[in-house]
Amino acid sequence: MATETPPVVVEIDSLAAGGDGVGRLADGRVVFVPWTAPGDQVLVRLTEERKRFARGEVSEVLRPSPDRRSPPCPIAGECGGCAWQHIDYPAQLAAKAGILRDAIERIAGLTSPAEIPVRSATELGYRSRARVFAQAGEVGFRRMRSHEVCGTQACPVLVPELNAVLGNLAQAPPEGEAEWLLAVGDGGEVSIRVDGPGAKASAIHLRVGEDPLRIGPGVFFQANAALRGQLAQAVGEACGRGERVLELYAGAGFFTLGLGRAFAQVTAVESNRRAARDLGHNLSAADVPADVAIHPIPTEDYLADPRGPRPDVVLLDPPRTGLPKGGPEALAALGAERIVYVSCDPATLARDLRILTERGYRLSALTAFDLFPQTPHIEALAILTL
Ligand SMILES: C[S@@+](CC[C@H](N)C(=O)[O-])C[C@H]1O[C@@H](n2cnc3c(N)ncnc32)[C@H](O)[C@@H]1O
Repeated sequence: MATETPPVVVEIDSLAAGGDGVGRLADGRVVFVPWTAPGDQVLVRLTEERKRFARGEVSEVLRPSPDRRSPPCPIAGECGGCAWQHIDYPAQLAAKAGILRDAIERIAGLTSPAEIPVRSATELGYRSRARVFAQAGEVGFRRMRSHEVCGTQACPVLVPELNAVLGNLAQAPPEGEAEWLLAVGDGGEVSIRVDGPGAKASAIHLRVGEDPLRIGPGVFFQANAALRGQLAQAVGEACGRGERVLELYAGAGFFTLGLGRAFAQVTAVESNRRAARDLGHNLSAADVPADVAIHPIPTEDYLADPRGPRPDVVLLDPPRTGLPKGGPEALAALGAERIVYVSCDPATLARDLRILTERGYRLSALTAFDLFPQTPHIEALAILTL
């Protein structure tokens, strides 16, 4: 009869990119333990053992880290939305700088800046977009690593307008399953899109500097209402001014309008048709002086057949997957003096930076933006120069 391995004592040293605490077993293997904090001493029950690493669950906190706190959310630990509610906010920020540094050094093989600044705004009440689910009479969010719904009336990371919507939905749960995409604009207008065939909802509007930005239902937008203005400004400063700029993954134009005032020619690539339509609308509504060409095609297609003369600057803001295979090589071949890379995944950023730096680019600045407090997600802004 198989016997269960007895729990082991683990000292947690750091936090991994996925959010779990990281410690070492007596045999030297790394062990990943969710809901822990650096400085914790915990008793761990191993749930998965591999040759080089293991995973476990806390069976007892023997000595809590000084960075531990009581989570501001009553369903922390059950809800899959936030993995770091139990960690003090300054320690979350330090962990994000550490994860980014580790990726730059280990994956890109570069010397990371001695200090990586992490820009942040408010740690709660920031999120202006959310997916909400209903199941078996409960309304809320998905449980950690599960499709089950964890019911709740309120969520501390949502902006007040979306909390009000969540509260109303939770008061009258539908029968069966449902899914909503909630979004709120800068004027407080809320879009509630019921996901499914024929889904319809209204557009919302954000402000980027002086410019209004229309975001159609389901189109990506920067969801941190408190910090996105700083991100737009930092990206604008990183791009500077010049003759020609190429923007890949332009979305509805969050950065494009600023580029249209700083460059004479803007080429914007965005594969989502609805986002590209909003981009066209937003550029004409803002009456930007630049000559703008929009390519509603995938970046990979554009990079396989780039148009026009060499850009001075390339700005890119890809999804988590980073550039496609062969993308960094094709990007380097464009020969722009400066590449401004906005990334939401340190691992794919570092993978792409490795190739770009092998082709002559130098990482000249790196900043993180905490767009998703209480979670391990990290947004990074990297500037590369030739
Ligand atoms: C992280 S969002 C950034 C959008 C915009 N920069 C912003 O800040 O709102 C990534 C964008 O890339 C688009 N996208 C995803 N895959 C793409 C691809 N292969 N080629 C071009 N655009 C793509 C998405 O539709 C989305 O608008």
